[in-house]
Amino acid sequence: MLEIQGLSIEFQDVNPPFLAVQDFFLSMNSGEIVGIVGESGSGKTMTSLALMGLLKRQAKITSGSMMFLGEDLLSKSQKEWQALRGKEISMIFQEPMTSLNPVLTIGRQMEESLRLHTKMEAKERKKKALDMMSQVGLAQPEKLYRCYPHQLSGGMRQRVMIGSALIGNPKLMIADEPTTALDVTIQAQILSLLKKMNQEHGTAILFISHDLRVIQSICSRVVVMYQGKIVESGPVQTVLRSPQQAYTKKLLSAIPNRAYSLRRDRKERIESC
Ligand SMILES: Nc1ncnc2c1ncn2[C@@H]1O[C@H](COP(=O)(O)OP(=O)(O)O)[C@@H](O)[C@H]1O
Ligand SMILES: [Mg+2]
Repeated sequence: MLEIQGLSIEFQDVNPPFLAVQDFFLSMNSGEIVGIVGESGSGKTMTSLALMGLLKRQAKITSGSMMFLGEDLLSKSQKEWQALRGKEISMIFQEPMTSLNPVLTIGRQMEESLRLHTKMEAKERKKKALDMMSQVGLAQPEKLYRCYPHQLSGGMRQRVMIGSALIGNPKLMIADEPTTALDVTIQAQILSLLKKMNQEHGTAILFISHDLRVIQSICSRVVVMYQGKIVESGPVQTVLRSPQQAYTKKLLSAIPNRAYSLRRDRKERIESC
């Protein structure tokens, strides 16, 4: 489904130019969950933005190829990217407030990709949106439909973003640190939600995190990045059990040696909508 080869991304607004990603490669099958792990600044977000055609102007792809469902992503025009984004490939981020529009209702945002990519009528879009809200575990969808993002808790906003990303039934979802800002209970819920969506809809997920423990709980394969380069890759269990590289060992030793402390004291809530 996805084949990235020799991808390099350079910032050309600094002197000398800064190579943020160097010779990155990855292949993914339909329905797979693959992780990219690495400390902050290792080039994970640049790689995912390249995959969405969303790199800023100063970040240039200097070499490599990206093939998605047999199509060459690097030769796409802005218009072709727009047709692809949200429909075939969608993305969720660490902070939903930056991708949710504060002045649009939750219902409107849930329906956005249906509005852009289908000819569905309003009534049908709403039905789909309400159904997707239930699927991502949002209670009282009718009420939420009329709410605004600031009226929701962080975990609920994350669910809205996941639902909006999945409503168009994309083949690939890129999740860039989607649980980093959440407390552990909500984090665990969001991870199981992503797994469920992967199983039920067959959506492939490229899951990006600086946290190997999170990667371990959701991915089958992992790519370890350090300073823009892949230092190691393979099945998660193999990489965790016998890391080949000193950097991976260091990432592993940074994981606290205790189980998740699952606190149940934080109820997700809807403030007055
Ligand atoms: N505008 C910029 N100019 C130069 N370097 C940048 C710019 N934006 C980001 N970078 C650098 O690119 C590298 C990769 O960043 P990023 O992909 O966001 O890392 P990650 O997501 O792994 O934390 C970092 O070292 C960062 O400092
Ligand atoms: Mg990042």
